[in-house]
Amino acid sequence: MCDHTSADSPLQQQTIVRPDNLDHTIDVSGMVDPDNGYVDRRIFSSKAVYDQEMRRIFARSWLFIGHEDQFRKPGDFFQTYMGEDPVIASMNKKREIRVLLNNCRHRGARVCRADEGSTKNFTCTYHGWSYDLDGKLVSLPGKQHYPEDFKQEDWGLVTAPRVEKYKGLIFANWDKDAEPLEDCLGDMKWYIDAFMDRDPEGTCVVGGVTKWVLDGNWKLAAEQFATDWYHVNMSHASALMVMSPTGKGPKKEIAERTGRQYTDRYGNGAGFPVHPKNRFDAQPVHEYYDYDFLRDRLSPEQVMGPLTNGHATIFPNFSYLPVNGSIRVWHPKGPNKMEVWSWTVLDKSMPDEVKKAQRLYNLRTFGPSGIFEQDDGENWSECQANAHAFMVGNTALNYQMGIGTEGEHEGFPGTTSELYSDAAGRGLYRRWQELMSTPAWHETTD
Ligand code: FES
Ligand SMILES: [Fe+2]
Repeated sequence: MCDHTSADSPLQQQTIVRPDNLDHTIDVSGMVDPDNGYVDRRIFSSKAVYDQEMRRIFARSWLFIGHEDQFRKPGDFFQTYMGEDPVIASMNKKREIRVLLNNCRHRGARVCRADEGSTKNFTCTYHGWSYDLDGKLVSLPGKQHYPEDFKQEDWGLVTAPRVEKYKGLIFANWDKDAEPLEDCLGDMKWYIDAFMDRDPEGTCVVGGVTKWVLDGNWKLAAEQFATDWYHVNMSHASALMVMSPTGKGPKKEIAERTGRQYTDRYGNGAGFPVHPKNRFDAQPVHEYYDYDFLRDRLSPEQVMGPLTNGHATIFPNFSYLPVNGSIRVWHPKGPNKMEVWSWTVLDKSMPDEVKKAQRLYNLRTFGPSGIFEQDDGENWSECQANAHAFMVGNTALNYQMGIGTEGEHEGFPGTTSELYSDAAGRGLYRRWQELMSTPAWHETTD
């Protein structure tokens, strides 16, 4: 029998083992200028930039995994992605959520192919290695053929070292030393609460996960949900006409809203009209809510602002729309494609008929064939279509709207600007540039 050195090999380690010269690092310092509001078009089309995003943004940011309502008993699992990495989120016997890389340690097949369900073990269908809900390798056929020093405990699934929740939303991070999720949300929590904390009972998800593929870089969607109320009147003009009681289009006070847009150093962003009569669009939902109760439970400013109409992105690729109860992830699928995963979130205490009204309203407006969603997807695909071309790719884009209006504004925590602004877009690209320019945990030697 020949000698072998498996016990000493660095390849046995779970973490990324990559010779330094395998990835070429691009200097992106000149590709975005958040202070002056310029963006180099190539950040949306370059494969090299995209690969660096996987290493330096997705491998160390808090990424949305799912809603806690999807995990009700031990064994419940849900399959999703962190960046392009397939992961399984499972509830273990202690009712903790574990996030496991869906990648068999034997030859690399996925050990789970179902979208969601309930199980005791994840058994790879190639040779039969089987893992428990914590990712531990619990059995393998023909173990007697492995060398004596084969340590089964060393060959469990790679697990995300950090999983944290905020108001029912579950996030995971590959960086064990990442700042806590709540620190990265910062003042954004106040804006999220206006959506996720209306009901003392909490929220639930209904109707499963709707998924569709779009031509377009993931950042086009993430930045729009962070920063762009501006497009609403033009892009959604027909949809607004259909929804207007007179069929003639939005009234002046709808077309020219006043409001705020939130931005922070972590790249999060949210925009919303501010008006004392803001209301939910779906009539049964509007009638269900007691706005005085909400003013009391939350605050008058949250009810006037981010409670209803508005948009938001939690950096890098999780977004939501409060008025629709829509939460979504923009999964990157190469520089030119994204896969949208969308859930409907509702207050647990809502009666069934109100839940149904909100779910249908979300599907009609922001489902894959929703009257608003189609406008947005069309725009992103249009922006992507020629981004790779030489002259187009070398022409800078303008992100100067509202520049200089950022500051403190009474009643609204953190830094906000006017509603019609690129402030949160500039903030998103400031964070993007910071992470893209800093070595991540897997690139350091200690
Ligand atoms: S690839 Fe999974 S058991 Fe072989
Ligand atoms: Fe839109």
